[in-house]
This record gives sequence, structure tokens and C-alpha cells, in this order.
Amino acid sequence: MAIIGQDILQAKSILEAGELVAIPTETVYGLAGNALNPTAVASIFETKNRPSFDPLIIHVPSLVVAENYVNEIPATLRRLAEEFWPGPLTLLLPRNKIIPDIVTSGLDRVAVRVPSHPLTLKLLGQLEFPLAAPSANPFGYISPTSPQHVDAQLGGKIPYILDGGACRVGLESTIVGMEGDEVIVYRLGGLEVSEIEKVVGKVSVKSHSSSNPQAPGLLESHYAPTKPFIIGDLDDLIKEYQGKDILCAVLSLDKSFSSIPDDYQIALSPSADLKEAATHLFSAMRTLDSSNVQVIVAELMPDKGLGRAINDRLKRASSKG
Ligand code: TXA
Ligand code: MG
Repeated sequence: MAIIGQDILQAKSILEAGELVAIPTETVYGLAGNALNPTAVASIFETKNRPSFDPLIIHVPSLVVAENYVNEIPATLRRLAEEFWPGPLTLLLPRNKIIPDIVTSGLDRVAVRVPSHPLTLKLLGQLEFPLAAPSANPFGYISPTSPQHVDAQLGGKIPYILDGGACRVGLESTIVGMEGDEVIVYRLGGLEVSEIEKVVGKVSVKSHSSSNPQAPGLLESHYAPTKPFIIGDLDDLIKEYQGKDILCAVLSLDKSFSSIPDDYQIALSPSADLKEAATHLFSAMRTLDSSNVQVIVAELMPDKGLGRAINDRLKRASSKG
């Protein structure tokens, strides 16, 4: 079973031995291994049951260190790195051959990020290599935002979980790259598009393709609970399921329902604050998924700010097959 602790030296020596450690970041917990060691990276795929065509993000302590692993950083993306690193931003950059093929699935670009979490930044600063780290969940399931979430599903398979408490942002990083002169957002995430546009002007969002083999985090079904997860008008859905005697749980932004027991309903932010809603989203989905209801119903958020990224996750969670 995994040890849950805050010992950076222990985490370091496990990683140096080619084994895996779950690490806290401000977005979600990552399942980390030495990105320069193909065997360590292979065990990330195996531990998560992740298909090997799905490339990994490498995590480094600073922009300066990132330079070692890429051939160039286009000026526009450099401005974003300077503005938002450490933070919930991943950049797709032309990779240097030092990065093994297994990390990028053979693609020409490598995804790079400087996470904003004091423990993990300290750990990264003491390592001679970057950490490849996908979210620390079995492939396709809800991402973990606490050490307990990691332990519940992967605890039996990894030696150590670095305990950095609950994740502050709660949604994965926003993934950005360039095509020609155009800045493209490939995955909506914890950094709002409007913040990016303040620095580099108008960007295109391409995260809606239903199946993009180059970035399976964008597969239509992802982040999914094991129970049926239905999006729509909550009053209508509750009426429908109660009429059929089907026990349902309710996930809303800010509402409460007198016909639903308290244990089966979660309002992500009673004050309708989308940042707070993002922080609580994955944890709430897990709680409802592990209750004994038969179906979970949810409503979409206002389509602005972090609401866009939350809606992206809700839609993927609701589409099966
Ligand atoms: O916030 C985050 O980004 C978290 C924390 C742990 O850093 N990580 C995370 O990793 O969400 P993961 O593997 O669950 O999602 C990364 C996404 C995947 O959809 C993957 O396909 C895409 O990034 N990706 C990684 N490398 C890529 C590349 N070279 N080109 C295109 N997409 C890439
Ligand atoms: Mg993931």
C-alpha cells in the first residue's frame, strides 16, 4: 500500500529508482515518473491502464529548465510562460530528442508545464530530470484532487503519495500551442481563455473535436463516473426519475432541492462562484458516484470563465460509448 506523507527526500529516492510517486499540483494530482527513463514512463501507462498513444505532460521547476527539453519556445508562447508559470498552463513545444518517444507518442511536440504547488516545486528543483505525469486516476475516470482520491484507486499499485492537501484549482491545466501564427487552446482548463487573450490577443479553441487521437484527454467520453451521469434541466430530470422510482443524486451550481435527501445533492458553490465550483467539481462527482444512487443528474454552468472548462468536463463525463 502507498505511504501518504510529505517527505520530499523519500519521494526523490523512489523516483530516482525508476518508480512512481503521486504528486500534488494546483490542478489535480499527477502520477509521476522520470520522464527521461522509458521504463519508468512505461509503468505510468501500465499503472493507469492508459493507451500508449496518449502522450504525457512533462513537469519542470521553471521556464529556464524547460529550455533543456525543447528546441525553441516561440515568442508568443514564451510570453504566456512568463506570465502564467508556475500555474495551470501547459504549452505544446517542439521537442528536443532527449525526450523519449514514449512520452510524446512519437509526436513532434512535447507538452510542458511548471506546476504551482510548493511541495512539488521543491521536489522538481531537487531532481536531475523532468517528471512525466498524467492525472493520477485509472484511464477515463474522474481526476483526483486529494491524496485520498489517489489512494482509493491507485494506492495498491504505487509506493508513495506526496501529500499536498486538496488541489486549489481542481481542473486540469489549459493546454495551448501554436499552428502557424495562431494560438490554439487544445484543452480548456484551470487557466481561463480570457486571461490568455489578455496577453496574446484572440485565440482559437479546438477542444471540441469528439475524438482526436493526438490528445485522448479530449476523447468524447472521459472524466466519467461509473454511474449514469445525465445533464439537463434538474427539475425535469428529478421529476422524471422520481416518477420511475429511480434513486437519483443531484449536482448543481448553487441550488438545493427539498425532494432530494441532503446526502444525495451537492451544490458546487452556494454563492455561484465558478472558481469555487471548479475546486469542488471532481470531488463532488466522486462522492455522488460512491453513494448508493442509481443515476446522477447535473446541470451545466454559465458558459463563461471557468464555467466553460467545467462544462467541458461535465459533457465528457456524461457521454458513454
Ligand atoms: O493539470 C494537468 O495538466 C495535470 C497535472 C497532473 O499536471 N495533468 C494532466 O495530464 O491532466 P493528463 O495526461 O491526464 O492529460 C494531458 C493531456 C492528454 O489529453 C494528452 O493527450 C495531452 O495532454 N497531451 C500530452 N502531450 C501532448 C502532445 N505532445 N501533443 C498533444 N497533446 C498532448
Ligand atoms: Mg487525465
